[in-house]
Amino acid sequence: MKKNLKILYFTLFSALMSTGCEHLKPLQVDEETDQLSLADFPSAETCAECHPNHYQEWRGSAHAYAAIDPVFLEMQKLGQEETGQKLGQFCIQCHSPVSSKLGLTPPGYKNEDLPAFALEGVNCIGCHAISKIKENKNAELEYDPRTAIRGPIADPVQNNFHRSVYDDNFKQSLICGACHNVVNGVGVTIEDTFGEWQRSPAREIGQKCTDCHMPAYRGKAAVNGPEREVHRHFFVGVDVALIDFPDRRRQSEMVTALLQSAAALEVEAPSQTKAGDYLPISVNVTSKTAGHHLPSGAVADRQMWLEVTLTDKGSGQIIYQSGHLDANGDLMDRHSELQPSADQDLIQWHQKMAGANGNDVFFSWQAFDQRTQTIPPLETVSLSYDQLLPAQLTGPLQLKVKLRFRTFPPFLLRKLNLDELAAQLPIVDMAQWEGTISTQ
Ligand code: HEC
Ligand code: HEC
Ligand code: HEC
Ligand code: HEC
Ligand code: HEC
Repeated sequence: MKKNLKILYFTLFSALMSTGCEHLKPLQVDEETDQLSLADFPSAETCAECHPNHYQEWRGSAHAYAAIDPVFLEMQKLGQEETGQKLGQFCIQCHSPVSSKLGLTPPGYKNEDLPAFALEGVNCIGCHAISKIKENKNAELEYDPRTAIRGPIADPVQNNFHRSVYDDNFKQSLICGACHNVVNGVGVTIEDTFGEWQRSPAREIGQKCTDCHMPAYRGKAAVNGPEREVHRHFFVGVDVALIDFPDRRRQSEMVTALLQSAAALEVEAPSQTKAGDYLPISVNVTSKTAGHHLPSGAVADRQMWLEVTLTDKGSGQIIYQSGHLDANGDLMDRHSELQPSADQDLIQWHQKMAGANGNDVFFSWQAFDQRTQTIPPLETVSLSYDQLLPAQLTGPLQLKVKLRFRTFPPFLLRKLNLDELAAQLPIVDMAQWEGTISTQ
């Protein structure tokens, strides 16, 4: 059978060459050397011809953004500077895994000096040539692009460019977990999405990363293939490209929809009150995400928080507020430069990192410890915003509550000299509630 395939492969290859498709040199084992080189790893552009849908979706995804992401680049640069380049391949091993393994990205490399392949980040071959997953962290992966392209199809139609084989890894979450768990050089867990999933209700019912992030649909796996069950390659999460990037608008719409599906907000307050009274307000935030915590991943960077505003509508006076921004766009916790710690009630979900002396640090290579406050899958967090109302009120009162999300706090982007990105950072309202309380 194997021999027959080889013959078929060769026949098709010859046919291809004779029909003028010389630009596609088939992937094959080079008997002469075991050393892999860039020539063994085709670019995503090569795959586009036969897999146009997969390519189109991937090219607007965070995986295609991973090596040109300006925040990533500035952060990595700072990390190399601060550690005297001891960070080495740590960051790029996940953000452009094949190039890192091929030695194309020495510490201090500049994007303008790299081949286009390296800028493709987590590209097609970066997943589909994975031959071994050694650990569920830090891209501990082995690649073998020469023998076959691996994937989830048990009965692939063979083609003249690559041999296709079924590989069970593509039906497991571990292939995602190899990169979606980040442990820094001193053993501190920085990102734990795969770990959270292992303890999640989703896993208990057999739901994997791909079930939510690569939904199935009927379509073609390749232009010349049959119709079958295939999978989206948008990899929607929370990131929206902050630079010019393919399909930004669609990405932003999909991110907003995902975030708005991820949580529910429930507010309890009396419908009537009066001046000088005690007004009980309770807010319940429920995660609807069964797959991991909310938020998850790069939680030291993410901000998810509650904005609460109680207004005397008659006079326009704000009676109470929390979760509002200072003039720099920052939350008024202790990191606000303009009004530090002005918002004592602020509720936010994120990760705090601590340095060797327990001091606040903001970057993963500086962390000796971390504390993560995020919402476990499907759990509810209850908060109270009870108020003692002023002695004078015009009424009625208006109560507004929002659950808000953004990928970075502006102060962090300013630390990376990315002030102009800080100014255009979108905030997504994941859920909101509004009600009126009449006054006697
Ligand atoms: C000359 C056309 C052609 C090119 C170029 C090509 N493929 Fe394919 N590929 C196919 C065909 C045809 C199939 C089989 C589709 C089917 O059976 O439905 C396939 C199947 C696959 C599969 C599924 C394999 C399995 O068994 O699950 C993956 C993954 C894949 N290709 C990835 C790639 C990647 C990555 C590249 C670029 C490096 C690429 N392909 C380039 C034609 C091509
Ligand atoms: C049950 C569906 C589901 C499963 C299973 C699931 N996710 Fe998610 N994922 C979501 C939703 C909804 C969001 C958006 C809310 C959030 O950020 O948590 C999300 C967000 C993310 C994000 C962005 C996180 C952030 O807040 O910055 C990443 C990265 C991610 N998922 C990766 C994974 C990986 C890797 C797995 C498997 C180990 C996985 N997901 C399993 C539904 C799921
Ligand atoms: C982050 C890893 C990752 C990247 C990057 C990636 N894929 Fe996939 N791909 C997968 C996984 C996982 C599956 C199987 C999903 C499943 O069966 O649930 C898959 C499935 C496929 C299939 C089989 C048909 C299908 O949709 O199930 C093809 C063909 C394919 N990918 C091509 C590509 C091409 C072409 C690129 C680049 C443009 C690419 N992939 C980028 C992980 C990846
Ligand atoms: C080789 C490493 C690698 C593998 C394997 C990998 N990822 Fe990723 N993934 C990344 C990196 C790096 C990013 C962040 C890129 C950026 O925005 O700078 C990312 C981003 C994402 C995002 C977007 C997160 C956001 O906040 O928007 C999702 C969703 C995601 N990956 C899902 C998956 C799934 C599902 C799999 C398994 C099929 C997978 N990844 C496999 C490295 C990987
Ligand atoms: C184990 C693999 C891995 C390593 C190592 C790693 N990252 Fe990432 N990185 C990821 C994944 C996966 C995501 C997506 C998580 C999410 O969206 O929540 C990500 C997301 C990010 C983001 C957010 C992207 C955005 O635009 O929202 C930045 C910035 C980043 N990484 C920088 C770095 C830096 C700097 C280093 C080295 C100090 C590093 N990463 C090391 C896998 C890794």
